[in-house]
Amino acid sequence: MAAEMALVKPISNVTPKFGSPRLGSYSKFSSIRMSATATPPPSTSTKPSKKGNKNVIKESLLTPRFYTTDFDEMETLFNTEINKNLNQEEFEALLQEFKTDYNQTHFVRNKEFKEAADKLEGPLRQIFVEFLERSCTAEFSGFLLYKELGRRLKKTNPVVAEIFSLMSRDEARHAGFLNKGLSDFNLALDLGFLTKARKYTFFKPKFIFYATYLSEKIGYWRYITIYRHLKANPEYQCYPIFKYFENWCQDENRHGDFFSALMKAQPQFLNDWKAKLWARFFCLSVYVTMYLNDCQRTAFYEGIGLNTKEFDMHVIIETNRTTARIFPAVLDVENPEFKRKLDRMVEINQKIIAIGESDDIQLVKNLKRIPLVAALVSELLAAYLMPPIESGSVDLAEFEPQLVY
Ligand SMILES: [Fe+2]
Ligand SMILES: [Fe+2]
Repeated sequence: MAAEMALVKPISNVTPKFGSPRLGSYSKFSSIRMSATATPPPSTSTKPSKKGNKNVIKESLLTPRFYTTDFDEMETLFNTEINKNLNQEEFEALLQEFKTDYNQTHFVRNKEFKEAADKLEGPLRQIFVEFLERSCTAEFSGFLLYKELGRRLKKTNPVVAEIFSLMSRDEARHAGFLNKGLSDFNLALDLGFLTKARKYTFFKPKFIFYATYLSEKIGYWRYITIYRHLKANPEYQCYPIFKYFENWCQDENRHGDFFSALMKAQPQFLNDWKAKLWARFFCLSVYVTMYLNDCQRTAFYEGIGLNTKEFDMHVIIETNRTTARIFPAVLDVENPEFKRKLDRMVEINQKIIAIGESDDIQLVKNLKRIPLVAALVSELLAAYLMPPIESGSVDLAEFEPQLVY
């Protein structure tokens, strides 16, 4: 899961009870208690501290989020006696694929990691830490949601429940691998603390489907694009984690395909005018969140030889084409006007950030922000109202193990 879905504000904060994950117990390292955002990256002191680094970093609208949902409604949706659209054969086939566990032995580290981390210095080192931390938080967010869905759907639909549990296995593996990456920098995310302390964004099931589908597919396109770029330009391969992205992104692709199957089994979420409006809304939220986030971190993308905006537009266009196979409507992201709007949002966002960093008193900051926030909302609205592309209705016959590229 890539969790490029943060612009939407929390509707309520519910903290579900999860078992305590056995990830991230690196007590000999500094421990990061919250996910970083646009605030300065955590200290990367090479001297491990037993007390732990008490960085409490505030969340922003663009921080990777944790999600919860209406699990009772989920149980109704996946009850085979109530919902006759559930194609159990299709889910059985998907389950077999997840059980195959293609990446069981993929995430094995070697000494290259620590050596590469030691060579990273200055701002690039800090931005790498932030990349690892944000990615780990996003993967872990998927782990928590899928694990709980696996637990809650066990009685109603054991096949779907088992797939969720196996997807949580994948996400735990991804989060754990990223957290081990942080250990190369003598840091570790305190995932147990995150589970309890983070706010949970509540989405109704249909919104969970749209958001997680997009999150998985955009994650796939981000990982595979970075992988291909570094394969073609190995001089930018400054940390070995990217070499793992090829197989890794196939996990995300499979997760996205599973959500396709889930949505097909809930045609009421795909076949009316409201579905079209929501589909466009979620596409816009996910694309804008990624674009604004990445444009605040151009040093990272430049550090691995990518042009941030070109990279993001490629990922947005490919994700949108993939999404058009299942969503009833998508945005016309290939219209040059869409990118112009994104670029204007970046400019406005930079001004908003500059106000936050200024020495003005809070009241003055708030007053200065008002016209900029209004301008940002108006750009968002204009992008949302651009003529959409009618899509969907392509019957997905892609549940065989298959690569998208
Ligand atoms: Fe993942
Ligand atoms: Fe995933």
